Amino acid sequence: MRENAIGVFDSGVGGLTVAREIMNQLPNENIVYFGDTARVPYGSKSKDTIVTFSRQIVDFLRTKNVKAIVIACNTASALALETLEQECDIPIIGVIEPGARTAAKTTVNNKIGIIGTVATVNSGIYTQYLRNMKPDALVYSKACPLFCPLVEENWLYDSVTIEIAERYLGELKDYGVDTLILGCTHYPLLRHTIQKVMGDEVQLVNPAYETALKLKNVLEEKNLAKLTWTGNDHKFYVSDDADKFKVFANSILPCEVLETGYVNIEQYNG
Ligand code: DGL
Repeated sequence: MRENAIGVFDSGVGGLTVAREIMNQLPNENIVYFGDTARVPYGSKSKDTIVTFSRQIVDFLRTKNVKAIVIACNTASALALETLEQECDIPIIGVIEPGARTAAKTTVNNKIGIIGTVATVNSGIYTQYLRNMKPDALVYSKACPLFCPLVEENWLYDSVTIEIAERYLGELKDYGVDTLILGCTHYPLLRHTIQKVMGDEVQLVNPAYETALKLKNVLEEKNLAKLTWTGNDHKFYVSDDADKFKVFANSILPCEVLETGYVNIEQYNG
């Protein structure tokens, strides 16, 4: 089991920000990544749909004998993690609890902002975690549905992106948050723009770091960690437009992505 890969999935390219962190912190491990590029965005879809999509992806990843799965998507973590954990006999890790924990540790003025998809924000799950971890915190959330398509288009520094960020983030600035959770794995790719709009005094929290750390601890506890480096053989799969994904992945990851496979994800049961 120790030699098996870790499954990582997202609705598209956003989860690569988590894959990158796993590669940095767990260099011995191999990753099988799936980006659901045919059905992105998840953030505007219902819980039932997101659970079905996530189950199909877990079924696909299990055909690759993964030893653990990281849901590198806040939306799927918010709406499907609980169900998948009950259905699976391998560890499944989401990004929400690690993100909330980092923010709770980071804030000084106890005013925390959360940005994410409509589904993540409406689930209220970040607020719940933060209330448990830091009962006196004031939590403000804002859905930013246009951010994900901007990232998928690779418009990371475009003037349109700055204008949209100003419209979305203005109210969080007005509330005086000192910590902002990037509650969608696409958003760290807009970090530069978001930081510029929020100002340097606001700490941006990318849940990827704590998520990779949590994965490391879980693998060690369960004697699943790969103990030696034997070269890496990461695999990448998408449900649409493999070439576009490959270019994007190569601009983000510390390894070279030579091949991206196409998967007809709807053939899995879900
Ligand atoms: N990257 C995902 C997230 O973390 C999903 C974005 C989307 O598909 O709407 O929420």
